[in-house]
Amino acid sequence: MNVVHTGPRVIVALDYANSAEALAFAQRLDPARCRIKVGKELFTVAGPTLVEQLVARGFDLFLDLKYHDIPNTVASACRSAAKLGAWMINVHASGGRTMMMAAREALAGLKHPPKLIAVTVLTSLGAEDLRETGHNEPPEVLVERLARLSAASGMDGVVCSAQEAPLLRAACGPQFCLVTPGIRLADSAQDDQKRIVTPQAAIAGGADYLVVGRPITRAADPLAVLDRINADIAAAQT
Ligand code: C5P
Repeated sequence: MNVVHTGPRVIVALDYANSAEALAFAQRLDPARCRIKVGKELFTVAGPTLVEQLVARGFDLFLDLKYHDIPNTVASACRSAAKLGAWMINVHASGGRTMMMAAREALAGLKHPPKLIAVTVLTSLGAEDLRETGHNEPPEVLVERLARLSAASGMDGVVCSAQEAPLLRAACGPQFCLVTPGIRLADSAQDDQKRIVTPQAAIAGGADYLVVGRPITRAADPLAVLDRINADIAAAQT
């Protein structure tokens, strides 16, 4: 049975250099129309205080810190992230089954555990980069293997390219959460993303949540762009 989605499916990446800019931009957003993502750059400068402030404003917040360490350390970090009120957190699947299971175990018993997502293969890595790190199979084979391992290790889903979504939907089933960056409206700038997909195509391909940064954060009218993306998503669902 397919997942019934409640709430916004767009996650706006707050890729700002400091807390003031991030808060000022969040002020222009509406928690009923999007969720938000805080990554390593912003978290490193603004820390847990900013996360708590954004959560207090009613946003579902994806704390994108991609934990990758020994199981005990990752488990403790996940518990700390959950205490901040994050709605979604993530770890690297390449940390292995024991690490992922420790992360899952750390969230057991929480009343509102965050969604626990794994990163399979960073999309910045090509076949040659992977060969240099000892992986000789094509990237998509490694992505699928790590996604299956993530599912078997209790992860709620993975971050993936929207182009991989149909493959992973088929491999990991309808309940597995697929979070896809690299989204661009047909007429928006490509920026440094190489493999871009429109919101409609991403949803049609099986994505659950779309991570969108610059097309919204750099727009003259961010809410207008967000509304267009939400309309595209609604159209893809009908
Ligand atoms: O501005 P843009 O829409 O390209 O932002 C995409 C966001 O998703 C950024 O925060 C980026 O770090 C993140 N991301 C990505 N590709 C991945 C994983 C995360 O672009 N494979």
